[in-house]
Amino acid sequence: MIKIGIAGLGFMGMIHYLAYQRLRGVKVVAMWELDPKRLAGDWRSIKGNFGPPGEMMDLSGIARYESMKDFLADEKVDMVDVCLPPSLHAKVTVAALKAGKHVFCEKPIALKASDGARMVRAASAARKKLFIGHVLPFFPEFDFAYEAVTSKRYGRLLGGHFKRVISDPQWLQGFYDPERVGGPMLDLHVHDAHFIRLLCGMPTGVSTVGRLRGEVAEYFNSQFRFRDPRLSVTATSGTIGQQGRGFLHGYEIHFERATLAFEFAMVGDEPRTLMPLTVFDRQGGATEPKLAGGDPVDCFVAELKHALACLKNKKKSKILDGSLARDALKICQQQTKSLVAGRPVKI
Ligand SMILES: NC(=O)c1ccc[n+]([C@@H]2O[C@H](COP(=O)([O-])OP(=O)(O)OC[C@H]3O[C@@H](n4cnc5c(N)ncnc54)[C@H](O)[C@@H]3O)[C@@H](O)[C@H]2O)c1
Repeated sequence: MIKIGIAGLGFMGMIHYLAYQRLRGVKVVAMWELDPKRLAGDWRSIKGNFGPPGEMMDLSGIARYESMKDFLADEKVDMVDVCLPPSLHAKVTVAALKAGKHVFCEKPIALKASDGARMVRAASAARKKLFIGHVLPFFPEFDFAYEAVTSKRYGRLLGGHFKRVISDPQWLQGFYDPERVGGPMLDLHVHDAHFIRLLCGMPTGVSTVGRLRGEVAEYFNSQFRFRDPRLSVTATSGTIGQQGRGFLHGYEIHFERATLAFEFAMVGDEPRTLMPLTVFDRQGGATEPKLAGGDPVDCFVAELKHALACLKNKKKSKILDGSLARDALKICQQQTKSLVAGRPVKI
């Protein structure tokens, strides 16, 4: 039985808790949260953009802590699950690793590339696992694309375009603050930066143009360069000022023998699959593979199941390992650098 301690009982803390309830061989034994109501099980104030609303929870049998020191001293905990704001990820992760715990930490790994690198070094020094919750490859459409690349089912990968745009989240405090959330680059695009890193390897350079809001990128287009000059990879991300289309993501991925396309958006309160995952083949065919599910909580169940299996089998994760998230953060940092400098930069 792997025993989990959850740090932070906000939206992600709740989703992870619910996901663990659906998995075998794992148990949440401890929690750490500043808000006394949430720590007592009143989760009615928790809000997110998917999943069930927060409810009154029976947390009896789970050790509850108000301080990091006491939480990390709990000997029952094997893995700390960090669901705290990004500004706390580095400090808490490094302390947990030093306390002899494995760590699963939500994305982005940190706000500064140097902190991401420090966290990866701390995991290696402690000989503990560090997983970063980049859940995107566990969404059925992205899982399909990842499998197509790794299996080479459609031949060599030629490149692609990735898109992730949201309405300005005016209700989120500190969203554009580089010291708190880091804006759309670190909250949003980091998902695609990580996915591009998984599919294509580490880019060698990037050219980004777009709008800044204060110090952070607000809306931007990037062209990535790779050692293989034939790989053509671009991405669009950021926020728009209008509230009517709250979320949009999708991709077009090119292979020698097929093109994959997918696009999903929230228009008002309505989910719209603008382009269901479609495989265009060389014979002129367009097929829509049948995909599992559609409930985002399922993706978190799959993500945590994968991390727990890696832990059990003492294997490095090819998807969630901290080094990949560190690379994704480095890519994002260089994208902002390119945007600010108005020229291509090396990665
Ligand atoms: N993978 C995804 O799709 C996804 C989606 C949403 C959020 N996230 C990530 O999850 C993380 C958490 O985001 P969230 O939306 O759950 O935030 P949230 O604000 O809903 O929750 C954070 C919780 O941490 C608590 N907290 C803050 N400081 C604390 C401290 N010093 N000690 C103890 N508790 C403290 C807060 O009281 C709150 O309950 C972020 O890194 C975010 O980027 C990931």
